[in-house]
Amino acid sequence: MRSRSSASLFVAGAAAGHLPGHNINHFAHTGTAGEASEPLTVARSIADIRARLEERLEKGGTAGLVPTMGFFHAGHLSLMRAAQGECPLVVVSIFVNPIQFGAGDDFNTYPRDLDRDLKLAAAAGADIVFAPTDTELYPAGFDTMVAPGKIAEGLCAAARPGHFQGVATVVAKLFNIIRPGAAFFGQKDAQQAAVIRRMVVDLNYNVRIRVCPTVREPDGLAMSSRNTYLSEAERSQAPVLYEALLEAKAAVSAGQRSTAALKRQMKRKIAGRYLAELEYVKIVDPNTLEPVAQINKNVLAAVAARFGRARLIDNMILSPGGDNA
Ligand code: PAJ
Repeated sequence: MRSRSSASLFVAGAAAGHLPGHNINHFAHTGTAGEASEPLTVARSIADIRARLEERLEKGGTAGLVPTMGFFHAGHLSLMRAAQGECPLVVVSIFVNPIQFGAGDDFNTYPRDLDRDLKLAAAAGADIVFAPTDTELYPAGFDTMVAPGKIAEGLCAAARPGHFQGVATVVAKLFNIIRPGAAFFGQKDAQQAAVIRRMVVDLNYNVRIRVCPTVREPDGLAMSSRNTYLSEAERSQAPVLYEALLEAKAAVSAGQRSTAALKRQMKRKIAGRYLAELEYVKIVDPNTLEPVAQINKNVLAAVAARFGRARLIDNMILSPGGDNA
């Protein structure tokens, strides 16, 4: 793991003027005084990021990539720290990807705060932030998509048609632009991680996929940029998703092996909170996401529900061996 004492911000390229107030030493890492400081670079174009990578990487070295849509919380920062522990250079992409949002989705209202994100990314050990514009990634004439197969059909696909095609396409583009040696994703979005793992195998990307544990609020609610949509009452009921997963885990530890019984129990639990509008409760194979009837190896229990404007998801691995992570 590298250690750095402080970091300043350097905005690369002509678009620097779009980022107000990013002065030198604005984004300080903490650490021992006296070590050389390295700037956090912000690249706004594909040409910029490629030039910065060439500058900052030793010959033959590769970066760790953390793809995000910004508005950072501790979950995002945990991925950056994991990348910092494993990779000589950490690139964080911030891009609210229009093609993964459906017509009725929250693309326009999705929370954005680049200034705040840059400070948090610098403190979490990012070296370069890649924050392209929409037209940089999708110029006029863009017409090619990556289409994941069966793995993108169940779970969240019903409510979000086309979503995983949009995710796979932008992640493929980021892999091609940045050519990372490793890329870091969160277990919170289990289907997304499974789709990316499948894509990497199927399309022969030379990148290690790391999936990091879900970071939670003290009451168990999985952190999400979309938690900002919750009213006070919705926020107080939202931890029921985690509570239902914990109860399923306890039932498996006590010997329950029927996924039908577990799903009934979880649905009952969630129905007890009147602001929860359940979308699905599923128990599937963690790799293929195919439904499972009897638990005789690790399974993934996954839930999705709406609380007002917020669509929340959560999941947990249930292990018949008792080692429920
Ligand atoms: P975003 O929702 O910003 O999430 C970026 C990464 O952070 C994803 O890998 C996600 O799984 C992870 N993450 C989110 N909440 C987390 C939590 N509570 N604990 C741990 N990790 C968490 O996911 C996307 O962006 C986009 O779909 C993207 C992959 C960037 C493609 O546009």
